[in-house]
Amino acid sequence: MSVEHGLWDESVPDLVDSLCRRATVRRFDPDGNIPPEELRAIIDAGRKAPTSGTTQAYSFLWLRNPETRARVHELCNRGSQQVEDASHFLLVCIDVRRNARLLDHRGEAFHLPREMGLLEGAIDAALAAQQTMVAAESRGYGVCPIGNILNGIYEITEELEIPEGVLPIFGLCIGIPRDQPRENCPRVPLEAVLHEETYDDADEQLLEACYDAMNQMYGDSVYGDDSREWHGTLARYWGPDGFMTRREADFSATLDRQGFGTLDGVYDSNPSLGSRNESCSVSTSGDDS
Ligand SMILES: Cc1cc2nc3c(=O)[nH]c(=O)nc-3n(C[C@H](O)[C@H](O)[C@H](O)COP(=O)(O)O)c2cc1C
Repeated sequence: MSVEHGLWDESVPDLVDSLCRRATVRRFDPDGNIPPEELRAIIDAGRKAPTSGTTQAYSFLWLRNPETRARVHELCNRGSQQVEDASHFLLVCIDVRRNARLLDHRGEAFHLPREMGLLEGAIDAALAAQQTMVAAESRGYGVCPIGNILNGIYEITEELEIPEGVLPIFGLCIGIPRDQPRENCPRVPLEAVLHEETYDDADEQLLEACYDAMNQMYGDSVYGDDSREWHGTLARYWGPDGFMTRREADFSATLDRQGFGTLDGVYDSNPSLGSRNESCSVSTSGDDS
């Protein structure tokens, strides 16, 4: 479809239909190869995503060593074979460290507030990752975000010696799908997520419609459970003893260790590169606060 009042001065494909058909890929061809140069081009497109105030508070950490990937998989509590099988595995990270160093390089001060650092960095990182995923899928590759890294986030951050100001928030597999695309995972009805003018709680009918829609996903190799009821999945994530609550303490300790709420700068230790701001704290990776 052509857009008359469009942004483009040339015709580009309308992605709406293909985006409605996309699906996460969890089984990758372990021998499948996406040339590194192609991955770089895909990420280059991904990083043109919007970024708050131009500050690009994220990085991708590309884990190329199979042993490192196997170790990260182990620290995820396993169950995510795609971490090892996909052609490429990246850690999507909040990264305010580069900005701290850029400021220091011009003799400017820096501070990393805990909640806003987390929020702004997570938004920038997620948008760049999402655009990277769309770029990869547009080439026919499969993608899978890996939130399971949060099962071992403290150890992963420590073992990979990820410095203060940087925090992995999810993994990202990109590779060659092993199977034909599976059926699209359903979503709750549009009216449950799109509110007009004011926020309105879903009524009982709409709540039931959400379950009706989502219960169609059972049989899915990852999320299927015996009850075949989506409330089981919701409770596993958001119940009082769900993943989110169980991950909280470890995540919070990792935030502390990575300097969220305390980091006041990362001075440049290489004198040939420029200034050293004496007021900045020294970053010690693995420093357990
Ligand atoms: C932040 C985030 C973390 C995710 N973590 C995992 C994961 O650890 N393992 C996995 O198999 N899928 C993971 N997924 C993929 C979701 O399970 C998937 O998007 C969801 O089931 C909907 O399926 P669809 O993408 O095929 O529509 C994650 C997705 C997001 C956005």
